[in-house]
Amino acid sequence: MLLKNMNAFVSGQAICDRLGCSRTAVWKHIQELQKEGYIIESVPRRGYRLVQRPDRLSEAEIKAGLKCQVFGRTIIYKESVVSTQKIAHFLAEDGAEEGTLVVSDEQTGGRGRLGRIWHSPKGSGIWMSLILRPALPFHRTPPLTLMAAVAVVRAIHAATGLRCAIKWPNDVLYEGKKLVGILTEMQAEENRVRAVIIGIGMNVNTPSDAFPEELKETATSLKIITGKAYARAELIQAILFELESLYHLYLTEGFRAIKLMWESYSTSLGKRIRARTAHGDVVTGVAKGITDDGVLLVEGDDGRVHPIYSADIDL
Ligand code: BTN
Repeated sequence: MLLKNMNAFVSGQAICDRLGCSRTAVWKHIQELQKEGYIIESVPRRGYRLVQRPDRLSEAEIKAGLKCQVFGRTIIYKESVVSTQKIAHFLAEDGAEEGTLVVSDEQTGGRGRLGRIWHSPKGSGIWMSLILRPALPFHRTPPLTLMAAVAVVRAIHAATGLRCAIKWPNDVLYEGKKLVGILTEMQAEENRVRAVIIGIGMNVNTPSDAFPEELKETATSLKIITGKAYARAELIQAILFELESLYHLYLTEGFRAIKLMWESYSTSLGKRIRARTAHGDVVTGVAKGITDDGVLLVEGDDGRVHPIYSADIDL
C-alpha cells in the first residue's frame, strides 16, 4: 500500500482495515520496514508516508508499481544463482508463460555473448532473464536483440535522464564504456520458435574498485557515472515497461520504427569498425546500416558489402 502511494500519506486506519489487524501491529510492521531501510514518515492523524525505498530486490518490490500487462506477471527472484539465463531456459522448456522474469541478486556463473563470462557481483547490478513466446518465423527473431537494446536505452533515460548509446548489436555504452550487456537466445522446435530468452546485465551501483582489473578500463556503472545510487527494482520496472511496449510494436508493426530508434542511438553507424566473427574472420570497413533482419552491413576495405550476423565490434 505504501509503495503504491509512494510519497503520499496512507492512513493507519486504512492499513488496519485492509490487513485486519490492530494499529499496534501496523506500527510494529512499520518499524520492521524502517529497520530494513525504508524511510517512512509517521504523522499523527495523517498516517504513514513512504519517502524512500532501499535498494532491495524481491518479487514484491518489482511488482509494486509495475506498469505492464504481461511482462513480470510471474517473477522468480533468487538471492544467488549460477545464471538467470540457465534458469529461464529450464522454465521455458517447462512451459513457463510469456513475460516470466527471473532475477537474481548475484550470479556465480553469469554468461556473456560469444561464450564469455559476465561479472555479476552481489547486490550491485541487475541480472535478469525474460522469457518471450513470439509466434514468429525464425528469421524474424534477430531484431528482438536490437529491440532489447533500444528498450534498455529508453528505460535508462526515463529512470536517470542519462543518454546512452548502442554498439552493434546490443551493447549499451556510456561515453564508450559498457554499462549493459544483453544476451538473446532462442529455443527452437522443428519449425517454430519455442521461446526467446532475453538476458540483461546492468551495472547499477557497482563502485569502480569492484570491477576486476581487466574490466576497469572498459566497464562502467550508473553509480560511477552519476555518483548516485539507484533502486534496482525501479530500473527493472522501467526496462520491463519499455520492453513490453516495443515488443508489442514489433509484433504488430514490424521492425521499421524500432530500427529507426536503434539507428538514432547507434555509435557504430557511419564509423570505421573492425568486426571479428565467432569463426575468427575479421572484416574492417565502414558500418553502413542494418537490414530489416538486424544484420549489420559493413562496406569492407575490399569495396564489397559484408553482412555481419554475429561478431564483436571494435570502433
Ligand atoms: C554480453 O556479453 O554483453 C551479454 C551479457 C549478458 C549478461 C546477462 S546477466 C543476466 C543473464 N544471465 C546470464 O548468465 N547472462 C545474462
